[in-house]
Amino acid sequence: MADVESLVSSAATVYARKYGKEPQWFAAAPGRVNLIGEHTDYNDGFVFPMAIERYTVIVAGPAEAETDAEFYSMYKNKSAFVQVDGSAKPPLHVAWFSYIQGTVQNVFEAGLTIPPFRAVVVSDVPLGGGLSSSASLEVAVATLLESAAGKKLDPVEKALLCQKAEHLYAKMPCGIMDQFISAMGEKGFAMLLDCRSKVPKMIPMDSPNVSVLIINSNVKHTLTGSEYPDRRRQCEKAAALMGVPMLRDADLELLQAKKEVFDKEIDGDICFRRARHVITENARTLAMAEALTEKEWKHCGELMYESHASMKDDFEITCPEVDILVDVTSKQKGVFGSRMTGGGFGGCTVSLVDTDKINDVIESVSQRYERQTGILPTAFATQAARGAYCPKE
Ligand code: GLA
Repeated sequence: MADVESLVSSAATVYARKYGKEPQWFAAAPGRVNLIGEHTDYNDGFVFPMAIERYTVIVAGPAEAETDAEFYSMYKNKSAFVQVDGSAKPPLHVAWFSYIQGTVQNVFEAGLTIPPFRAVVVSDVPLGGGLSSSASLEVAVATLLESAAGKKLDPVEKALLCQKAEHLYAKMPCGIMDQFISAMGEKGFAMLLDCRSKVPKMIPMDSPNVSVLIINSNVKHTLTGSEYPDRRRQCEKAAALMGVPMLRDADLELLQAKKEVFDKEIDGDICFRRARHVITENARTLAMAEALTEKEWKHCGELMYESHASMKDDFEITCPEVDILVDVTSKQKGVFGSRMTGGGFGGCTVSLVDTDKINDVIESVSQRYERQTGILPTAFATQAARGAYCPKE
């Protein structure tokens, strides 16, 4: 794991080599792990993420006589040119730089004057692993533009315009969790976010005895690519069948009382189970925030296992490899709880682990997971990290 300073310095070296000058503007935005509260954000529910010690970093400087901006990605080893004059339109086909173009456009529309510039982007957030590499890119771009324009956005507006970039330019109808935590995370705190009021409550997550362990299953199944929008639609339908604005407004009693209404629908059983996941997950998220505040680790762990089971059986967003990973992890000494984190169909698990046991857990889980799946996982422990900032200011 590289720290922000070394990411900045490697990007600055590439910048100086390419453009013959030192960069002037710097931005860093973290990935995130969601402790609990999955697929609840777009139902106006509760989520409980924290920023992780993995960042997307951008260094940049002004460019003369140009109306667009060049972004050079160290990962892709290539450049993309994006419009900075407000003339961009959502693309027909999504490319890696669509997130950047969308964010630049939305920052422009929010009233910031963006000078022509060149930038170098580097990241150590694993791509496509459910740790919000795309939100960290969007938020890093918006943070960079604040520096370049010499004006700060309101943090909530900033998160929302990054989300809108993802909707319109990357065609992913995501909720607000990832951009919120990347923009507003705080070192040593997890964020309990009420996605309806959009008011975050910071909960201390700094106990030295318990570590957050992230294990990447190193699989990603996108069956048709429409899994996420499908879940959104099923949730909306379930809310409509119960006569409530959003699933946030339903409880298990109402769901049970409306069972017959669901039974009349061809996808009634699916919608019923989607709703049951969201309703119970909201309750688990609030309970976990309380248990974590009281440092009741065992209870936190139980809630995480329940969340995983609900994602597996009711929301149907896990996959065999991730189920194996959680199962294997749950059998290790020193593990309080474990679950898949993020959008689903692969990616990472998050576990709460006794800090003294962390190395043993990583070793033993890696061996067992590899034996059962033939895939080598990657693992790292992280503290709750700082949200987006400008490293040199
Ligand atoms: C993705 C989305 C988030 C959220 C999660 C699931 O990460 O970007 O908004 O819906 O999936 O909890």
